Amino acid sequence: MSENGERKGGVSEQSGDVGKKKFVSAELEGADGYKLLTGLIVPRPIGWIGSRSPAGNNNLAPYSFFNAISGDPPTIVFSPGAGAGNRRDTADNVRATGEFTVNIVTDEVAEAMNATSASLEPGEDEFAYAGVTPLESTMINAPRVGECKAQLECRLSNELHVGRSDGGNWLLVGEVVAFHIDLDLLDGTRVDQQKLKAVGRHAGNTYSRTWELFDLARPA
Ligand SMILES: Cc1cc2nc3c(=O)[nH]c(=O)nc-3n(C[C@H](O)[C@H](O)[C@H](O)COP(=O)(O)O)c2cc1C
Repeated sequence: MSENGERKGGVSEQSGDVGKKKFVSAELEGADGYKLLTGLIVPRPIGWIGSRSPAGNNNLAPYSFFNAISGDPPTIVFSPGAGAGNRRDTADNVRATGEFTVNIVTDEVAEAMNATSASLEPGEDEFAYAGVTPLESTMINAPRVGECKAQLECRLSNELHVGRSDGGNWLLVGEVVAFHIDLDLLDGTRVDQQKLKAVGRHAGNTYSRTWELFDLARPA
């Protein structure tokens, strides 16, 4: 490998590369890597994470570095910033208590979700700030968002620090111990995607609606 990561003797530009710009991650500055990632990996589901500090303060914030990663047991991951400039109350609470909720972000609550991304002081309650109703969980000690069509009760199962040692992110993995889902969305355990109206996040302030759907039959 040469210093910029090209394979020695490798082809620097192939016909398939014409009309494309290449970014070498090691040469990117500031937030460029973040901007490229969040502009390309879209739409990202949004985990609206409810947590409670050891002192008992409720906290609520959106995380789009978020996904489902395993079905049995049902498991999710989300990734709050770490380090001095990026410290998140959610990460502090979840790492201290081991419990949190994931509240599914749909069209009806998108604006309230966005409001809860405001940088409030650690003791300030985003439920009150955004005008949403805290609802107690049934198996863990963390608040759910009463207005959401679906809420997941989770227990922290693994944590991992990723990225720069002076910053980076926490990868917080949680086992979903209970699901609460509006009855009118459900046909058994099938969730009606048209009715759910989940919202996805793109780059910056841009979101998408997920109810323009199409099906592809899986090959045999
Ligand atoms: C839609 C959306 C998605 C976000 N995703 C993330 C994320 O994945 N990781 C992160 O660290 N911050 C993310 N943020 C920013 C946090 O929500 C924001 O910093 C918030 O104030 C953190 O709150 P907390 O300190 O109470 O946890 C996101 C913001 C928005 C609006």
